[in-house]
Amino acid sequence: MTCCGHCRDANDFFNTSTARSDLKRYLRRGPDKQTRLLVHSIRSSGVTDKTLLDIGGGIGAIQLELFSNGLSKSVNVDASLAYQSVSKEEVNKRGLANKTAYYYGDFTTLSSSLPHADIVTLDKVICCYPNMEKLLRLSLKKVDTIYGLVYPRVNPFTKIGFWLINFWFRIRKSEFRTYLHPPALVNEIISSHGFRQISYQKTLLWQVAVYERGNCTPGR
Ligand SMILES: C[S@@+](CC[C@H](N)C(=O)[O-])C[C@H]1O[C@@H](n2cnc3c(N)ncnc32)[C@H](O)[C@@H]1O
Repeated sequence: MTCCGHCRDANDFFNTSTARSDLKRYLRRGPDKQTRLLVHSIRSSGVTDKTLLDIGGGIGAIQLELFSNGLSKSVNVDASLAYQSVSKEEVNKRGLANKTAYYYGDFTTLSSSLPHADIVTLDKVICCYPNMEKLLRLSLKKVDTIYGLVYPRVNPFTKIGFWLINFWFRIRKSEFRTYLHPPALVNEIISSHGFRQISYQKTLLWQVAVYERGNCTPGR
């Protein structure tokens, strides 16, 4: 499977109606539980005057939450045009356009032109991308302090669920797939870049891990 086909078909999956319904749900109920856990953990490390790079930010729930805690600027990179335009509309409505920047495309191809940020997040993103290692390594290079991610646990529920989702994509002749990347490898890659885990939480399907850059930065 090519990454091009994958990203092209991501646009079909993460389309305008999904984006609108995600935003509606967020406005009614706030962030999903796993995103709430991630935001809570990032908040406790201090957000005032910090910058955020949210990769695969979707409707932009993380930036909206952190702006209320004094976040100074957010950069949102997403391979879905629909998510980005819905996110921009909400940011404009809230008068936050001057604090946000949007980049459309695959982060791994855009990364060299993107700025560093104090906080980098990937909320339910590595499970939508075939080359997890590349995505992690390039994103880790962008972090000044805090790196937070939400990704699926590997358990019978996610194994069956992801198999069914991928079966559905296959039937629709879509190249888009979801992935259960091995948690030990994810943790090893992040740690090998000089990060230490400062919080770890789980829901039935997701794990929420937040790391802090240590003094020694071997992989940077
Ligand atoms: C499951 S959605 C999660 C959206 C949001 N973070 C949330 O939790 O609601 C995954 C998002 O990641 C984006 N994405 C996946 N791989 C990406 C990549 N390599 N570069 C940029 N965006 C990517 C998709 O377009 C999609 O918007």
